[in-house]
Amino acid sequence: MSIDTDIILQETQSLQRILSDQNFLQSSKKQIEDIYDRLITTLIDHNHLYYIDNTPLITDTEYDWLFDGLKKIENHYPDIIRDDSPSQTIIGQYDIQTNFEKSDHTTPILSLQNTYNSEEIIDWYESITNMLNKKISEIGNEEEKNNLIYKTQNLSFLIQPKYDGLAIVLTYNKGKLMKAVTRGDGYTGDDVTENVKTIKNLSKIVTDKNTVIVRGEIMMPKSVRKSLNIIRQDNGEEPFSNTRNAAAGSLKLLDTNEVAKRWLVCYIYDVVQWDSKILQEFSQFQWPQQWDTCTIDDIISLINTTSTKEDLLKADIDFDGLVIKIADPEIRALLWSTNHHPRRAIAYKFPAQQIATQIESIERQVWRTGILTPVANLTPTELSGVTISRVSLHNRDFITQKDIQLHDRVRLQRSGEVIPYIVGVITNRRSNTQRKIDADTIVCPA
Ligand code: IVH
Repeated sequence: MSIDTDIILQETQSLQRILSDQNFLQSSKKQIEDIYDRLITTLIDHNHLYYIDNTPLITDTEYDWLFDGLKKIENHYPDIIRDDSPSQTIIGQYDIQTNFEKSDHTTPILSLQNTYNSEEIIDWYESITNMLNKKISEIGNEEEKNNLIYKTQNLSFLIQPKYDGLAIVLTYNKGKLMKAVTRGDGYTGDDVTENVKTIKNLSKIVTDKNTVIVRGEIMMPKSVRKSLNIIRQDNGEEPFSNTRNAAAGSLKLLDTNEVAKRWLVCYIYDVVQWDSKILQEFSQFQWPQQWDTCTIDDIISLINTTSTKEDLLKADIDFDGLVIKIADPEIRALLWSTNHHPRRAIAYKFPAQQIATQIESIERQVWRTGILTPVANLTPTELSGVTISRVSLHNRDFITQKDIQLHDRVRLQRSGEVIPYIVGVITNRRSNTQRKIDADTIVCPA
């Protein structure tokens, strides 16, 4: 498919003029049909330029505006909707792949050391300042030494949300997205470039023409998982238990046309090769609060403020903590990495929430596929802002292993968007009302 960009731009501008007339829907149906056909052709051309050629001609807002015009026509005249309309499907622009090629990372993609409380963050802070002081003492040049001593005594940090998705490494060359590789074992991952190109919020071009390698996370928005799960359950398919699994499963689909329908998003948070200024070219999650640089004391007060976590949990994407990074490039370079973790950054994981409630009854849930799963009905209770009234007991082994009985008080846990699960039974709250779970205790909904 070759596209004459001058013609498509002229046509886009002409359509923009038509759509900007508020009364355009009052034209004759014949005229509307003509506009509708032109809009479809133009949107398909823009899809091709965006997804396949990586050379979008218009901004996302301009694209959305044309798309909006198309939807207005379809709402007004549902009888003229064409199957190949971009509103109905992102049409077959992509080949079906048979497998994913393996690709080596140029730099090992290390994971971060996790911390769970302020003491562990302070331990990390002390270990890096000790290491910095030791390295600085070996420097001969007095001016350089004094500058680094000052920086170490006034260390400042960047704070980012910790995205709970699938890590991805993107390579741009001559300004274009050339390669997208999953983290894999940190040394080699799967080349999922074609699938990543379908992600709409990800910039496929950057202004810098050097080889730029960045690291980010691919996520499925919570709202998308919810809608997909309704369809999946109707089709008798297993629902996605959390957005991370949903994103991972979607990214590994071999039919790229199907990936495009999963509405994945990608946020870039770190530079593997080149200059940290490049990050400004990517859309990043906009947190209600903005912290440019923080001191260690700011960080400790931030993690002890309940609204920090609450604000992040309200977003349509899943976060499981914060990432604390040293801001200064010179200090970062001095620290280097351990074999497993970079020292210049650390993850702080939000504690998972737990509550206790009681099992009121147990029933079998019948899936469309015929599979029967025991499910406990609970005294409804709130956990991480959601009312929980049912929880899966999975299978007989799970029940035996956890020694779960009817009328037991149980502890439930939920972290992020993960489906709540039973962590254990509070056995010291047992009275004589509990009953072992067997065929008699399970109520059949039918
Ligand atoms: S920075 C040198 N920043 O969390 C630092 N990682 O082990 C490299 N993650 O698998 C990573 N949000 O993929 C960084 N804002 C963020 C992040 C982030 C999520 C992931 C990362 C890694 C895991 C931590």
